[in-house]
Amino acid sequence: MTQDLDAYWMPFTANRQFKKSPRLFVKASGMHFWTDDGRQVLDGIAGLWCVNAGHARPRIVQAIAEQAAEMDYAPPFQMAHPKAFALAEAVARLTPAGLNKVFFTNSGSESVDTALKMALAYHRVRGEGHRTRLIGRERGYHGVNFGGISVGGMVANRKMFGAMLAGVDHIRHTHDPARNSFSVGQPEHGAEFADDLEKLCALHDPSTIAAVIVEPVAGSTGVLVPPKGYLNRLREICDKHGILLIFDEVITGFGRTGNPFAAQTFGVTPDLIVMAKGLTNGCVPMGGVAVKQSIHDAFMTGPEHLIEFFHGYTYSSHPLACAAGLATLETYAEDGLLTRAQQLQGYFAEALHSLKGLPNVIDIRNIGLVGGVELSALPGEPAKRAFNIFLDCYEKGVLIRTTGDTIALSPPLIIEREQIDQLVDTVRGAIQRAA
Ligand SMILES: Cc1ncc(COP(=O)(O)O)c(C=O)c1O
Repeated sequence: MTQDLDAYWMPFTANRQFKKSPRLFVKASGMHFWTDDGRQVLDGIAGLWCVNAGHARPRIVQAIAEQAAEMDYAPPFQMAHPKAFALAEAVARLTPAGLNKVFFTNSGSESVDTALKMALAYHRVRGEGHRTRLIGRERGYHGVNFGGISVGGMVANRKMFGAMLAGVDHIRHTHDPARNSFSVGQPEHGAEFADDLEKLCALHDPSTIAAVIVEPVAGSTGVLVPPKGYLNRLREICDKHGILLIFDEVITGFGRTGNPFAAQTFGVTPDLIVMAKGLTNGCVPMGGVAVKQSIHDAFMTGPEHLIEFFHGYTYSSHPLACAAGLATLETYAEDGLLTRAQQLQGYFAEALHSLKGLPNVIDIRNIGLVGGVELSALPGEPAKRAFNIFLDCYEKGVLIRTTGDTIALSPPLIIEREQIDQLVDTVRGAIQRAA
């Protein structure tokens, strides 16, 4: 295919490298993509951690097509359509008990900023408008909008963009290779990293802090699994000081760790859950924020004809997204996908950890159907070794993702054991060739 690649400025991409040697997908089905030159590529990362039920599931495709023909759009402000309510109900049945109100957005980034705004406004409507401080974590990824990069902790995503939000602070990340390298599942050491929050409470006074946001499993920064007891400890400190706890489950939501949400896997219930990606199986952009009843109810005061929360998007609860979301949740239920990672995680972990001992492999981390393989960087060229491995795997018919010098794997939850073997064996070969 000859095509002019000039006009499109690609997101999070090495544009010049890509345009010299483009990688184009033109078709997808089940566990696979097909390239423009007809090669089949195994999807080792569920598109971008979103296509949890695999590609082109007929029920979802049909729901989107039917909805587009029946009603393409309906305004979400002061109007609605039935599928928005149906999807909110369906999502609330999956979230931990108590998180039963759902607000819709179009992406993870928008959901993060929505949750942060909800937290600030919640305190204000309760007469605690002095709680304005937001706490994030080093190495956190919460999308690319200003709220998300402010509480986020990935340097490259922050350093170009000025002062960002005021009044933000960060706790330390939990990555501790000296004590936890090659942990299978949750690392043993590091619950005490949560005590950083106590330190920030002492520094700023808890009455100034509105919310803490963390990814239960930090994904984009290289798959950092929470140490045992860490999230429980964060929950305790938040409770002690009246601080809201937000879990960003954009990656971990919808079955990635073996339950609908990681909150259930780790047995810790936050006050708000941020979601996106798997909500529609990646088919139509959509995000959401699930909140506790009490947070929602705090807004429901004042004259009934007035808007309670001045926030929303033109495409909040878009009919195509709602149709895709409903069909996605039905597909997950029919195929048992939201708990399937529990059956496969042992096999996946064993396959992944068989890479230990290969040249330059300095750590392997996993939980559910997500895994990270960290490599030592090429001297003076951070991220290059992993990027070369990504290119090599792609040539060999497997799509992986790399972040820095970590290979991240997060296959669709429909993956079969032979495909786990293919994925890991291809990565093995590429690591050996990159040595
Ligand atoms: C934890 C987390 N939060 C937020 C986002 C941002 O989502 P989006 O790219 O849909 O804006 C991502 C995307 O990968 C994510 O992993």
